[in-house]
Amino acid sequence: MPKITGVADHPNKDLMEDLWRNQGMRAKKIITYLEEHNLPTVSYKALGKYGQRNWTEKKEGDLDLTDLDIKLQEAEDLGIITRISLSKTGYSISVTPKLPDEQVEILQSIPKAPRKPSKKSKSSSGNVTHVIIPDTQVEPGRPIDHLWWASAYINDHVDNDVVRLIHLGDHWNMGSLSSYDRGKGYMEGRRYLADINSGNEGFKALNCELVDKKFDKHFLFGNHENRINKAVENDIQLDGLLTTEHCDTMDWQRHNFLDIVDLDGIAYSHYFYNPTTSKPYGGEIEGRLKTIGRSFVMGHQQGLKFAARYIQEKQQIGIAAGSFYEHQEHYMGPQGTGYWRGIIVLHDIDNGSCENPQFISIEKLKRMYA
Ligand SMILES: [Fe+2]
Repeated sequence: MPKITGVADHPNKDLMEDLWRNQGMRAKKIITYLEEHNLPTVSYKALGKYGQRNWTEKKEGDLDLTDLDIKLQEAEDLGIITRISLSKTGYSISVTPKLPDEQVEILQSIPKAPRKPSKKSKSSSGNVTHVIIPDTQVEPGRPIDHLWWASAYINDHVDNDVVRLIHLGDHWNMGSLSSYDRGKGYMEGRRYLADINSGNEGFKALNCELVDKKFDKHFLFGNHENRINKAVENDIQLDGLLTTEHCDTMDWQRHNFLDIVDLDGIAYSHYFYNPTTSKPYGGEIEGRLKTIGRSFVMGHQQGLKFAARYIQEKQQIGIAAGSFYEHQEHYMGPQGTGYWRGIIVLHDIDNGSCENPQFISIEKLKRMYA
């Protein structure tokens, strides 16, 4: 049936008015009704506006929701409406796009990382070394040479009875799921699948010299990988399609975002936070060590902070190190680039104390292996 754009001169105007007023139908359903009965259809936008203006009973003081009603119907065609916010001055609608079938098939076909059962936290005394890899933030187009250099360095220089590797998280940067960058130019060209693949490639690079090593390896999921879980929470239709299991952490033990992992008396987590505000602890590292009250290591924040204190002749250390990458973070601006980047080796760990920490900058690794 042909489409007649206007409503006023439509041959079935009275029928449409009856459906609107007495059956409670709105533009989308009325158009479906017309199509099913082989009647001339009408412009969706025109019907929505006309119906709201002429057929909807209004009480004094009612908001004019004509445009909102039309926008809602348009939004329904684009995807799932996740939120509608109304205020005196306007409204906003959040929509999660419907995924095309072929994209669903691609997501279902991505291999998932094998699950490794969690082990109880270990403790040892003497002859224990920890290698800490701060946030690596891999995504398409960012260099990953430093991951090869780190792998070679660990292979060449780290050896002990017990060696544990701890990646502090935010390896899969997941820029495609960034709520911070949504609606900005940075989002152009970002794709979930490309983010996953580039992270997996980077992780292979980090492991290239380590596959035969009998090291104890731990990967702590960060807030960037947690963007995947958040995307699913916001749209349950993505459940099983987007999953952190796409992040292939190889033979590393996986630890959930913000879980605290106790290794030889040192508490590791992507970050430690104030339980009343859920915000990561900030400020001077000495204050954080006092608040947390035990040896700890966290990532998440650029640069390097280190502190040690002695309680009853027992040493406690605090480390915040969240940058092991070469690229510049766009949100830091042109002046926000002068912070430490590198890996850390804790030698001679003894029940939470470490008298011999070693900070190895990315520049040193570059000089050694590039
Ligand atoms: Fe983080």
